[in-house]
Amino acid sequence: MAKKILFVDCCLRGNESRTKQLADAFFSKVDKTAYEIKHVILEKEDIKPLVGDFFWERQKLLEHNELSHPRFDRAREFAAADAVVIAAPFWDLSFPALLKIFIENVTIDGITFGCSEKGICGLCNGTDLVFLTTRGGFYAGSEDEQGSRYIDALHRFFGFDHYHLVFAEGMDADGIDTDSVLQKACVQAEELAEKLFS
Ligand SMILES: Cc1cc2nc3c(=O)[nH]c(=O)nc-3n(C[C@H](O)[C@H](O)[C@H](O)COP(=O)(O)O)c2cc1C
Repeated sequence: MAKKILFVDCCLRGNESRTKQLADAFFSKVDKTAYEIKHVILEKEDIKPLVGDFFWERQKLLEHNELSHPRFDRAREFAAADAVVIAAPFWDLSFPALLKIFIENVTIDGITFGCSEKGICGLCNGTDLVFLTTRGGFYAGSEDEQGSRYIDALHRFFGFDHYHLVFAEGMDADGIDTDSVLQKACVQAEELAEKLFS
């Protein structure tokens, strides 16, 4: 049976998106006979932040341990995937709020993480969590960069074994050959996909 890669696509500028170009390069090198790719386009998802009735419904379902409820479908899918690839641009020092809303909706006690007397442990089956991003300015290694650093923390929280980052930055900076920087990042993305999924 083919292994499953969940592709969480938060590239919100459609065909203009450089991050999507990075993702396309990555997936061009995934062996499609060995891996089934589930492409989740967040813009098309019916997802909401946890407020009001939507929050309280979740609390009740969790209290009654109703983890098979349809609103946890994505969380179960996230937990079951052999790998998860997230593509999102760098926005406001991290990533778009839509991705945070998705994360909020898949972070479910008993599905993607669990609690015991020893503390919190990840329940995700996946070995690899890949994050693909592009940034307008230069933030690699800076503490102000809160996107990749947060996803890195999530890979531990959810129980993935490895975290991988591919980025292109300086996309909106003056005097930068953005095409060439993006092209180099695309090659890195292709090489990573070949190493992990071919
Ligand atoms: C709403 C918004 C917020 C952004 N915030 C930042 C930021 O905090 N720092 C930065 O360097 N670039 C920022 N950018 C620029 C993007 O990171 C950059 O243009 C990136 O390449 C966009 O990716 P995309 O082409 O996939 O949409 C922002 C862009 C937008 C639209």
